[in-house]
Parts: sequence; C-alpha cells; structure tokens
Amino acid sequence: MTKTKRPLVIGITGGTGSGKSTVCRAIIDNIPEENIATLEQDAYYKDQSHLSFEDRLKTNYDHPLSFDNALLINHIDDLCKGISVEKPIYDYELHTRKLNETVNISPKDIIIVEGIMILEDEDLRDKLDIKIYVDTEDDLRILRRIQRDIRERGRTVDSVIEQYLSTVKPAHDQFIEPYKKYADIIMPEGGHNEVAIDIVISKIRSILD
Ligand code: ADP
Ligand code: C5P
Ligand code: MG
Repeated sequence: MTKTKRPLVIGITGGTGSGKSTVCRAIIDNIPEENIATLEQDAYYKDQSHLSFEDRLKTNYDHPLSFDNALLINHIDDLCKGISVEKPIYDYELHTRKLNETVNISPKDIIIVEGIMILEDEDLRDKLDIKIYVDTEDDLRILRRIQRDIRERGRTVDSVIEQYLSTVKPAHDQFIEPYKKYADIIMPEGGHNEVAIDIVISKIRSILD
C-alpha cells in the first residue's frame, strides 16, 4: 500500500450472469497489482465440508444466509486497518470452500468487493465507498449463466435451469434487484461496457495519483 490513508472500497454487484466478475477483472487488469485487491463474496460462501455432496446439492446458494458476511466484513475492516487477510478459496463443483487453502491478501489502496448480495446486508453496504450495480436484462443473464456454468462450474443445462427457476430467480427479485436503489452507479450490460469500465478505471487512477 502506497498511502497511509484508509483504502477506497468499491462494491460491484448485480444479478448472476450480469458480468460483475468480468467487470472486476477488466478493472484489475488495468491497475497495478500493488494498488488493488479483490474480495469476491463467492469466496465467502459458508464452508460445507462437514456435509455430504448430496446435502450440499440441497443448499440454497441464493439466500443471504448462505454467505459468511461476518468474515467478509472482518476482512474488509482488517485491510482498512492495514492488516493482511487470508481470503478463502471456493470450489463451485464441490460446493464448498477449499479447506487449508487460502489466498493471502495484503492491504492495498483500492479494495473491490464483488458479489450478488453485497447491498442487501446493511453492515456490508456501509463499508462500501462506491457502489456499482451491473444491470443486465434477465434473458441475457440466464443465457450467459447456462454457458458459463456448463463451461466453468461443472453443470448441465437442466441443472442450471432447475436451479434458476427454484432459487436463483426468486432470490434475484427479493434480495438483489430491490437493492439497486442503493447503487451510486448503474453499469448496463457488464463485462464489455468499455466506456463505463474506463470511467471507473480513471476514477481509481485519479485517487492513486
Ligand atoms: P457474474 O459474475 O455477474 O455472474 P460473469 O462476469 O461471470 O458474471 O459473466 C457471465 C458470463 O457472461 C461470462 O461467460 C462472461 O464472459 C460473459 N459476459 C460478461 N459480460 C458480457 C457482455 N457484456 N457481453 C457478453 N458476454 C458477457
Ligand atoms: O458469479 P455469480 O454472481 O453468478 O455467482 C453467484 C451464483 O453462484 C449464485 O446465483 C449461486 O446460485 C451460484 N452458486 C452455485 N453453486 C454454488 C455456489 C454458488 O450455483 N455452490
Ligand atoms: Mg461472478
């Protein structure tokens, strides 16, 4: 960290498949590594290693209680105080944290917190200096999710559709979309919105300067 002042904490949220993680990567790729760190809310899904694989399949991954937000908030606080943290690693195929494996994150000037439900939790929301909502139409999001989950998360078309209808869509309507009102910036379409991403990168650079 190059400065002694508190880091800037940027929240990036939006529905599944909206392009949050892609936006986040595009920002990180354009800022020197020593200045920026990311805490993905997905990394803070509760550990389920004590459950059988069959039981993990029954978990609702689209409920606020499925996240260990207390740990995420502790980590944001520690980084703001200049203390390094051990970020968990999540395995979407096994539906649990990788035990005994973490990523060491040292304090940086810019901290990005990225995930579907970071605005729903008031304590978490209060930690975010800039809140960005990646706003992508539902049909595009489900199409993107089908392709991504098959390619990257070991899923089938049927399993993605079943999960989307039973938990993902209702949760989006209850815990994600209504919290859009707390966002400072609405970013349409996500990962390929170069104009919006450039504006965020410029803002970060101006703070680093
Ligand atoms: P999220 O993290 O919000 O669930 P991702 O960033 O993983 O979304 O994006 C989901 C999928 O959509 C990925 O395969 C990604 O490459 C793709 N994607 C992201 N943004 C766009 C975009 N603007 N246009 C087309 N595809 C996109
Ligand atoms: O990147 P994205 O925002 O899509 O990640 C959040 C999504 O991951 C949630 O909608 C949840 O359904 C999904 N998920 C899953 N299986 C897990 C953990 C999360 O399908 N084990
Ligand atoms: Mg993501």
